[in-house]
Amino acid sequence: MPTNSRRSFLQQAAASVGLVLSASAVASLIAGCEKDETNPITPGKTYDVNLTSLSELATVGGIVQTVVAGVNDSEPVFISRIDNASFVVFSTICTHSGCGVDLPLDAIANCVCPCHKAEFSRTNGAVLKQPTSGSATDLPRYTCTYNASTNVLTITV
Ligand code: FES
Repeated sequence: MPTNSRRSFLQQAAASVGLVLSASAVASLIAGCEKDETNPITPGKTYDVNLTSLSELATVGGIVQTVVAGVNDSEPVFISRIDNASFVVFSTICTHSGCGVDLPLDAIANCVCPCHKAEFSRTNGAVLKQPTSGSATDLPRYTCTYNASTNVLTITV
């Protein structure tokens, strides 16, 4: 086979393979776009908390431990006031072995787990001190937005 014909043949073969791969890739993309009925993606649900009755949150630095049905599997969460316009919501369930983390003892203390003494930041749930054995990670946080005009905190899960 002359060199030019061989080159031409190889170019055509490569183009065909590319076409086949492209068709395969398109089929894969189409399959990926199909709706998965067995595992639907649910958009974040929102839960409103009226802060009017939570007087501890009236001042910056305040923190409460409360249940917001539907958030954190309906286990308590901490709501911590960071400044005039923002709050942080995080789980009270210790990431070490699942005990309930205590509300800080005073206006400057952090959140301490009674089981093995892990300590978490009162402002964001970050681990500040590891437990007496093993290790803990930061307490999971929830996205939230605050509407100052209504004094309502909206938590998204
Ligand atoms: S369960 Fe919290 S420190 Fe062990």
